[in-house]
Amino acid sequence: MEIIYKLFETAKKARLNAYAPYSKYLVGASVLAESGAVYASCNVENISFPCGVCAEAGAISAMVAAGERKLKAVLVVSEGKDLVYPCGACLQRIAEFADADTQIYLADTAQIRKTCRITDLLPHNFKASELTDD
Ligand code: THU
Repeated sequence: MEIIYKLFETAKKARLNAYAPYSKYLVGASVLAESGAVYASCNVENISFPCGVCAEAGAISAMVAAGERKLKAVLVVSEGKDLVYPCGACLQRIAEFADADTQIYLADTAQIRKTCRITDLLPHNFKASELTDD
């Protein structure tokens, strides 16, 4: 299966499990890690609204929990008149594990509508070299 198709199908499937009783806005996200494995998640809202978690956050956490550290691609899918762009916090989460080659696909449930890079969406991410050894 072509990997982009797999990312799309996996994110759409996760989206159908979104827990979004408050916004009613279902989001699915999938990530392709360096090993070739795909991890996916959906948004999970909470009655205490700030506790809600974005789809991208869950997918990235699943990748990290599996021991992987590099995003080769990210796909986000939602439905509505506007294409969903990852929120600011999720752009920072993506930036943590992305590089210049990481493909970011934005999709509705019918098709992938945009392909971009993290620097297109977040040109100046928070990157404090003093906080790391490298
Ligand atoms: N949401 C995501 O899952 N990812 C984003 O990048 C933007 C927003 C979710 C959060 C909330 O459950 C719903 O979409 C409406 O904001």
